Amino acid sequence: MIEFKGLTKTFGKIVALQDVTFKVDDGEFIFIVGPSGAGKTTLLKLLTREYKPTRGEILMDDVDIVKLKKKDIPLLRQKIGVVFQDFKLLPERTLRENIEIALAIKGVDKGQWIARVDQVLKLVGLSDRSDLFPAQLSGGEIQKASIARALVINPVCIFADEPTGNLDWGTADLIMDLLTKINKEGKTIIVTSHNKELVEKFGKRVIEMKNGKVIKDRNTK
Ligand SMILES: Nc1ncnc2c1ncn2[C@@H]1O[C@H](COP(=O)(O)OP(=O)(O)OP(=O)(O)O)[C@@H](O)[C@H]1O
Ligand SMILES: [Mg+2]
Repeated sequence: MIEFKGLTKTFGKIVALQDVTFKVDDGEFIFIVGPSGAGKTTLLKLLTREYKPTRGEILMDDVDIVKLKKKDIPLLRQKIGVVFQDFKLLPERTLRENIEIALAIKGVDKGQWIARVDQVLKLVGLSDRSDLFPAQLSGGEIQKASIARALVINPVCIFADEPTGNLDWGTADLIMDLLTKINKEGKTIIVTSHNKELVEKFGKRVIEMKNGKVIKDRNTK
C-alpha cells in the first residue's frame, strides 16, 4: 500500500502541494486528474524521492520513504516504474538499448537482458521496432516504449505521468488498454491525466487535484 499523509511541498513562495492525503491499495488502478500546475508531477517526484516534502509522510508498505537514507533510494526506485511526462528516452540509443539501461541500473545480469527486453517489447507490441531510434518512432510508439522501459524492472507499481497527453483518441485507448492489462497482472497503476473524458470512460477511482490540493476522491463505476 502507498499512503500519502498530510503532504505539503513548497518551493519558496510557490505551494505545489498542500496537505495531500490519500491511500492506494496494492493492485489498485487510480487516476489523478487536475489542471496544469495542480501538483501531479510533484507528487510523482516526491514518491520517487527526487524531492523531499516540506511536511508529511509517504508510507510504502509502512516504511516512510521521506526518511529513507540516500543509499536506500535506488531500491525504492526499483519498486516504482515511471512513465515520464517527457519520456526521457535517450535519442542516440535504440529502443532496445534504452530499455536495457533500466536493467543495467537495476544490476540485472547481462545474460537476461535480451529475453527480458523481448518480453516487454512483445507486451507493448513493439517487437519489430527494437532497433529504431526514438526519433524514428511515432508518438504512440514512444509512449509504449516508455511503458516497456518502466515495466522491464518488474516494479510493484507503475506511475504513468500523462501517458496519453498528445495522442489521438484511438492511440490513447490502446495505451490505456495496455495499462489495464498490466494492472490485471497484479501491478498497482497510477495514471495522471488532463483528460477528464478519457478518465470517466474507464470507470476507475479518480482523485481530482487543484492548486496542490485533493478536491475530490471518487469511484466513477
Ligand atoms: N522545482 C520547482 N521549483 C519551483 N516550482 C516548482 C517546481 N516544481 C514544480 N513547481 C511548481 O509547482 C506547481 C505544480 O507543478 P507540477 O509539475 O506538479 O504540476 P502538474 O499538475 O504536473 O502540471 P501539468 O499537468 O502541467 O504537468 C506548479 O505551479 C509548478 O510551477
Ligand atoms: Mg505534470
